[in-house]
Amino acid sequence: MMTSPYAVLWDLDPRTIYLNHGSFGPSPIEVRADREQWSAKLERQPMKFFCQQMEELLHRTAEDLAKFVHTKAARLALVDNATIAMNIAAESIALQPDDEVLLTDHEYGAVRNVWNRRCQQTGAKIVTAQLPFPLNDQGVVDEIAAALTDRTRVIVVSHVTSPTASILPVERICQLAKQRGILTVIDGPHAVAMLDLRLDDLGCDFYCASCHKWLCASFGSGFLWAHPRHHHKLQCPIVSWGGSMSGRSACWQDRINWLGTRDPAALLSISSAIRFLEGITLSRFREYAHELICYARRELLAIDGVGPLCTASEDDVVSMCAVELPQSADWQPGYHGCPDPLQLELRDDHGIEAMVAAWKGRRFLRLSTHLYNSTDDIEKLLSALQGSQHLK
Ligand SMILES: Cc1ncc(COP(=O)(O)O)c(C=O)c1O
Repeated sequence: MMTSPYAVLWDLDPRTIYLNHGSFGPSPIEVRADREQWSAKLERQPMKFFCQQMEELLHRTAEDLAKFVHTKAARLALVDNATIAMNIAAESIALQPDDEVLLTDHEYGAVRNVWNRRCQQTGAKIVTAQLPFPLNDQGVVDEIAAALTDRTRVIVVSHVTSPTASILPVERICQLAKQRGILTVIDGPHAVAMLDLRLDDLGCDFYCASCHKWLCASFGSGFLWAHPRHHHKLQCPIVSWGGSMSGRSACWQDRINWLGTRDPAALLSISSAIRFLEGITLSRFREYAHELICYARRELLAIDGVGPLCTASEDDVVSMCAVELPQSADWQPGYHGCPDPLQLELRDDHGIEAMVAAWKGRRFLRLSTHLYNSTDDIEKLLSALQGSQHLK
């Protein structure tokens, strides 16, 4: 398969081989058109749109999303992204001095920042569980259990981790937390569409997600899921009117739906993204992306000095994988805003967008595959890596 039969459904720059859907997932042409028609509707009659229609439209979108992630619309608030959802969850959990918030060593940097600030504000402290290497479900649960103390109030954990592209056993972690009376906040932007997400069965307190990754909704679309026992105390760090615009009865989402004037078109396009992926079928998407990522992983692991990062086998990945790279002579751990020279070489000399970064002193390459990718993309990546000075 040299080109993807699905690539025509996107309008990607033909000069770029895009292997970083996990960071920023472009939406298909029909989802973009849907977002644009919502924006056009708003521009034609802003009073009618904001004051009469928007709440009902957001509610209908939440209903579509609720079906997709197996929950009820009453438990969902639509927000721009997982970062905003995480900020709301953090603000809504009361912490006392000396309380502990448990994160793992695989958490996303910005999420760690959110909880660092929350701990600074409250006098609570962050504790980091070191997960086993390579990962295995029982080992993950055991390390988290070992890091709990009488002061642990919250566990914050990724469903699918960012640097190591690994799926964590969040259901078991939630069970463990519940037995100990500890709250759970799941960071789940990669899980939406990549996994069969059943939010009401997970047993968590809060779930934070973005729809602009694997679901392919427009950029600026995500959600916060909150268990009903938390709805009355939810606090949004952005304070606005906090009431209904259209005069319907109050609900907890009012504190989140209106964060001052802004275009909700990206949120409203979530329904169209769901229709798009369900039209192709989720199983087809997952099988297609999985086959490609396994091919990439196998070929990468055959390169001298490249090894698996955390995930032990192909069965542990769906559409995103990370492999460990050798540390070349010129290598220094890159950081946000200062990419690895190999990432820049792939981008500038080969038109390939993939993520090369550092995690705990290890250098890694993270690849994502979606319906628009093909074996041709992987082969071009492999050939670029074979000739690279930055791997030697
Ligand atoms: C695990 C994880 N959490 C949170 C985020 C933040 O997502 P967003 O930028 O959509 O808010 C990301 C983004 O890549 C992520 O990978």
